[in-house]
Amino acid sequence: MPKQKQPTQILLGPVPPALIGCGKDEESNIITLAWVGVVNSSPPMITAAVRPNRYSHDIIRKTGEFTVNLARADQAGLADGCGTRSGRDMDKFEHFNLTAVRGTLRQAPMIEECPISMECRVERLVELESHTVFFANVVATYVDPAVTDEKGRIDFERCRLLGFCAGSYLDTAPLNLSIGYTVKEK
Ligand SMILES: Cc1cc2nc3c(=O)[nH]c(=O)nc-3n(C[C@H](O)[C@H](O)[C@H](O)COP(=O)(O)O)c2cc1C
Repeated sequence: MPKQKQPTQILLGPVPPALIGCGKDEESNIITLAWVGVVNSSPPMITAAVRPNRYSHDIIRKTGEFTVNLARADQAGLADGCGTRSGRDMDKFEHFNLTAVRGTLRQAPMIEECPISMECRVERLVELESHTVFFANVVATYVDPAVTDEKGRIDFERCRLLGFCAGSYLDTAPLNLSIGYTVKEK
């Protein structure tokens, strides 16, 4: 049977529903964003698409900083919780019992409980119809040593990351195949 045409929608996934840390001290907040993308390698850059009505939007715009924290599949509740409640009404670090840690950025906190974190400095932004797209340099990357091997490579069996596609959360299981495996000599 051929594929059936559906209402036009973005079915690009699985993507990580990233926990984005922003703000400083009592203004610290976390917003879940699925619309985070890789856009440049040197310097390493990503985009984050945020609706202007989010509490985090103006914080990121004002401070020019945010962190990207990836959750494990067993942390789906954190991604959902931080993406369905607003920092206008609660301190999400306190509510979800999360620890804010700071690295090289002056303001935006990372989340200690997430296995992977990146610190990002906003370089430019583009205001589209529904979302503001922040283009940011990734200035530092951190990985929990509990999920890496002796060479610092991530063990994706020990670190089953959370995925998201078409409104549903997914577990990600490794295939144990590395890039280029089809052309590597045996
Ligand atoms: C899985 C998931 C993905 C989301 N992705 C985005 C996104 O890419 N952009 C966005 O503006 N909001 C997104 N949201 C909605 C915000 O996370 C949500 O409105 C949040 O409560 C805003 O928090 P804040 O008001 O504290 O900033 C997502 C929510 C969930 C649960």
